[in-house]
Amino acid sequence: MAYNLLKGKRGIITGALDENSIAWKVAEKAHEEGATFVLTNAPIAMRMGQINALAEKTGSTIIPADATNVDELTNLFSKSQEVLGGKIDFVLHSIGMSVNIRKNIPYTALNYDYFLKGIDVSALSLHKMLAVAKKLDAINEWGSVVALTYAAAQRTYPFYTDMADIKAMLESIARSFGYHYGVEKKVRINTVSQSPTKTTAGTGIKGFGDFFDYANAIAPLGNASAEDCANFCITLFSDLTRMVTMQNIFHDGGYSSTGVSNAIMEKMGLE
Ligand SMILES: NC(=O)c1ccc[n+]([C@@H]2O[C@H](COP(=O)([O-])OP(=O)(O)OC[C@H]3O[C@@H](n4cnc5c(N)ncnc54)[C@H](O)[C@@H]3O)[C@@H](O)[C@H]2O)c1
Repeated sequence: MAYNLLKGKRGIITGALDENSIAWKVAEKAHEEGATFVLTNAPIAMRMGQINALAEKTGSTIIPADATNVDELTNLFSKSQEVLGGKIDFVLHSIGMSVNIRKNIPYTALNYDYFLKGIDVSALSLHKMLAVAKKLDAINEWGSVVALTYAAAQRTYPFYTDMADIKAMLESIARSFGYHYGVEKKVRINTVSQSPTKTTAGTGIKGFGDFFDYANAIAPLGNASAEDCANFCITLFSDLTRMVTMQNIFHDGGYSSTGVSNAIMEKMGLE
């Protein structure tokens, strides 16, 4: 069911790789809610992914940009305003990649070149996007930027290795930039801390399947799906949440507030 929550709004959605991507679902929902938007991804991902099908379905233009490259981001924000016919109202940052995770390198023996790459792609890219947008004055007052994150920023998950530190940085950038952009232009910036979700980035993590089941058994509501996450992002892009900024909001079925569940106790044979 659609509510026209984003009617007349213009957006930029990063990170839709395939139909499992959280960003893919956000694009579908944003379209249903009346928004027009540009889809973007790294040029290399575009060759692998199915983004053309999404663009067709949602009537969107694709503008490739490597999120670590300031010139490409400048082109993205300039061209998006041209294509959409005005300033941007919402931006989804849905970008994550760790070479250390991909190569199964343990946290205590990280490769630092890979670590720096992960920081650049997954955290600094948010700062770069915001800095470019602010310089171009590309986002409307009360515009909303959402970046996706994970609870390993607050508590340790050994298999999440360097992405834990990187997500902590991402959340901090959202707060810090949220202050400055809020004071100057009333632009809102939040992070959404999502449940484990079966996507390319998610399932690339060692032991993801077991952990997915564990989190599902802890959370009173179960794991939040990519579609649920998309719905939540839409509310954050909408005017109904206009005083929410600089927050990290858990979207995890209650997982982060639960110490242990009866379901887990039973699995452990403790009940
Ligand atoms: N899947 C999960 O369990 C989970 C849980 C919490 C948070 N998240 C976060 O959600 C976000 C989206 O991930 P997803 O799970 O939908 O997986 P995904 O693999 O579908 O999306 C990750 C996207 O990042 C893009 N990307 C990588 N390098 C890039 C670059 N240099 N420039 C531009 N784009 C680049 C990829 O092409 C891909 O589209 C990530 O920030 C991820 O950390 C995922």
